[in-house]
Amino acid sequence: MTSNAAPAANLMPWPAHVDWRDGALAIDAAFRVRVAGHDDARLRAGIGRALDRLEKRAGITFGPRFVASGGTLVVTCENAGSSLPKLGDDESYTLAVGAAGAELRAPNVVGALRGLETFLQLVEKRADGSFAAASVVIEDAPRFPWRGLMIDVARHFQPPEVIHRNLDAMAAVKMNVLHLHLTDDQGFRIESKRHPELHAVSAGSGVLTQEQVRAIIAAAAERGIRVVPEFDVPGHATAWLASHPEIASVPRNYTVAKDWGVLNPVMDPTKLETEALLSSFFAEMAALFPDEFFHIGGDENNGKDWNASERITAFKKGHGFATNEALHAWFNQKLAAMMTPHGKRLVGWDEVLHPDFPRSAVVHSWRGPESLAQAAQQGFAGILSAGYYLDLHYPAADAYAADPLPADSKLTPEQAARVLGGEAPMWSEWADARIYDFRIWPRAAAVAERLWSLREVRDVADMYRRLARIDELLVETGVQHRAWPRFEGFSPEDAAALRVLASAVEPVKRYQRGQIQKGGLDYPLNELADWAHSESRPAREFAARLETWLALPTEKRAGERDALLTNLAAWRVAAARVAQMPAPDKYAAGRIETARRLVALCDAAEHALHAPLPVDEAARVGELVKTAAKPTAAAVEFPFLPALGRLFAEASR
Ligand code: ACM
Repeated sequence: MTSNAAPAANLMPWPAHVDWRDGALAIDAAFRVRVAGHDDARLRAGIGRALDRLEKRAGITFGPRFVASGGTLVVTCENAGSSLPKLGDDESYTLAVGAAGAELRAPNVVGALRGLETFLQLVEKRADGSFAAASVVIEDAPRFPWRGLMIDVARHFQPPEVIHRNLDAMAAVKMNVLHLHLTDDQGFRIESKRHPELHAVSAGSGVLTQEQVRAIIAAAAERGIRVVPEFDVPGHATAWLASHPEIASVPRNYTVAKDWGVLNPVMDPTKLETEALLSSFFAEMAALFPDEFFHIGGDENNGKDWNASERITAFKKGHGFATNEALHAWFNQKLAAMMTPHGKRLVGWDEVLHPDFPRSAVVHSWRGPESLAQAAQQGFAGILSAGYYLDLHYPAADAYAADPLPADSKLTPEQAARVLGGEAPMWSEWADARIYDFRIWPRAAAVAERLWSLREVRDVADMYRRLARIDELLVETGVQHRAWPRFEGFSPEDAAALRVLASAVEPVKRYQRGQIQKGGLDYPLNELADWAHSESRPAREFAARLETWLALPTEKRAGERDALLTNLAAWRVAAARVAQMPAPDKYAAGRIETARRLVALCDAAEHALHAPLPVDEAARVGELVKTAAKPTAAAVEFPFLPALGRLFAEASR
């Protein structure tokens, strides 16, 4: 990281080169922008959006925004660049801010858009209440060209407004690929004019019209964001089979699925009807989505229906395919041949990795980072999502540590160049439109930084400090991550207690929730696990404070104890109130049980902070910790439990 001590170094993603200077540029009503080089509507609109946010933040109205001479911020682009963003576009920029004004220079408009976001992040409130941008010289360009967010509209439908506001938030952290997961077992969420029966199966629960898709693509392009559509085949495809059962591997009465998991239904790739339908529908989609890349899924075919089909078994034998993987590879070659005339390169989840997969394709690594390196060694381009799954509730630090090209990578420079970047996927089994942004932000900003910034930018504490600031600034983009949970139907006092309880827990990690709760499209998504942040800042700060306290020599502890006790008391009061609330169903009963456990943990911790635990009490507390480690029906966990365990262990000696 090249930076001097910074006045308000809240930038995220961190730029490639930062050179802080003395002083600051005051932001007041006289602020004006001059477009000095290439000028076009996209650049003006991008500046306009930035000024809207600046006005809102600073509570100022600029009046006329643009001037022909002078100007507080001078924006100089050499070229328009591609109006429809492409992989590898030059997104670089330089930004110089001084007391007298600011200069933003970029080869292309997209670089200027990236630089405007940096400029906005520099603007902070000063002690006297006025606003200013710190003086600095920044030279910046991304480390990776593919920095994505995957939105799953197939499970819980995400309407266009969710997608639009997330485009603004993505742009704020310099992400440049929106991956739309459009079809799955639970939904066919894209209008087909050629085959309207396909999307008709989801007509009641949400379909993106082609007009809406075109508006999304246009808004994305305005922000320098590519849109990559995904049509998951041959598995995760029950919604196709609901209107086209003739392309299934096994005859069944197919309806759109309402529950989650790796389901058996899969297309029969050997049928001419399958090829005909895919060829026709994909041609329509190839025209709708202009990006060069076309994601065909390819994940999680468990093979059961293929094995159950005599026809498929005979086909494999006839073609000398010993495994389902070989048949899958044959199918993918057909898809590649189908899409090449449309100018498309395929993207597939890492199951597509096979020697016969065309080398023009991109392997999307999700089961582990190894497939990304293997793909690059075998000549494929690749992107990383393993480690970035927002829906699995990994802390930002874990995602931050997942580097597509780690320092110990064994790849040659030629192979390393095939690693294009990554995407943060947000699968929507457990998130509807009310919750969706809450799961994405701010953690996706840590992924955005990993993909934009230099590998050496990896100070976790500093990342969290900046993430907290970005969390606030993202509100300006319209993203609704702070508007959830709402606690409708609860009294204000109960809602306040529930909010505190929710802040002391996190949803269970990885795929555990599906093992505790049934979920499904009918599940109301309005209980403790839905209200809890994937990563609770208060719970983790408490754990860190307790660990620090435990490391202190005994004589220094008394003075540091109060903050811990205050925190425990607040949790205890809230949890005791929640424990008294009615439990109308088993999920609410799980919440009540969670609250009871928190009361008991707080009581024991308060005791252990003051004095050693007597032997019988120590044994009881040991059992309490063991019980608390097993999730209740509420499917949440206490992130500070390991730290409490250490406190109890020490107090029991
Ligand atoms: C996936 O998560 N099944 C790609």
